[in-house]
Amino acid sequence: MTVEQFPIGVLISGRGSNLQAILDATERGEVAARVVAVISNREDAFGLERARCRGIPAVTFPRRDYATRQEQQAAMAAELQRRGVRLVVLAGFDQVVGTALLRSFPNAIINVHPSLLPAFGGGLHAQREALDHGVKVSGCTVHFVSQDVDAGPIILQAAVEVRDDDTEESLSNRILAREHRLLPRAVDLIARNRVRVEGRRVLIAPNQD
Ligand code: GRF
Repeated sequence: MTVEQFPIGVLISGRGSNLQAILDATERGEVAARVVAVISNREDAFGLERARCRGIPAVTFPRRDYATRQEQQAAMAAELQRRGVRLVVLAGFDQVVGTALLRSFPNAIINVHPSLLPAFGGGLHAQREALDHGVKVSGCTVHFVSQDVDAGPIILQAAVEVRDDDTEESLSNRILAREHRLLPRAVDLIARNRVRVEGRRVLIAPNQD
């Protein structure tokens, strides 16, 4: 298999702007991977439309169809495996990832979070928390997903200055613009087999090209 074919699956719950960033980057040839499946736990996730526009299979697994979240995520894992996915990318996926997905994709699930972890992890309002705390710098983090929420080994981070006149919206927008570059970059590094995990540290091999 060539690196250009490295198959990834993207899990979303809503807007899907990070999914769009990955799709655009792959189309420009900046990411050595292709999205083979987009999966959502919500039927109204706009990201599903973004996938379908590109002819990418977009499948929904509504919570009400399953007795437990574990069964729901086991069904997602089965779908991703059926499509030969090697890396699962959480891009605004709003569920805590349980053992069904973790065991199916060991060390092969990554997430993007809108803060410099470990600051402001674990919640859904990291940008608001950063403002409330008064930090001068925040940013975004791409990390491996482990059993502990927002606590897996960190792959890439980008810093974003917090301005005196920032609102939650303005700070979120500037962080999001950095996420859109950081997440495709992390996917590319993994697809090119340049990422190695040693304990808590993620080491990135130099580009051999
Ligand atoms: C992003 O801010 C991401 O960091 C967080 O959820 C948001 C998803 O946005 N995990 P989108 O759906 O990719 O537009």
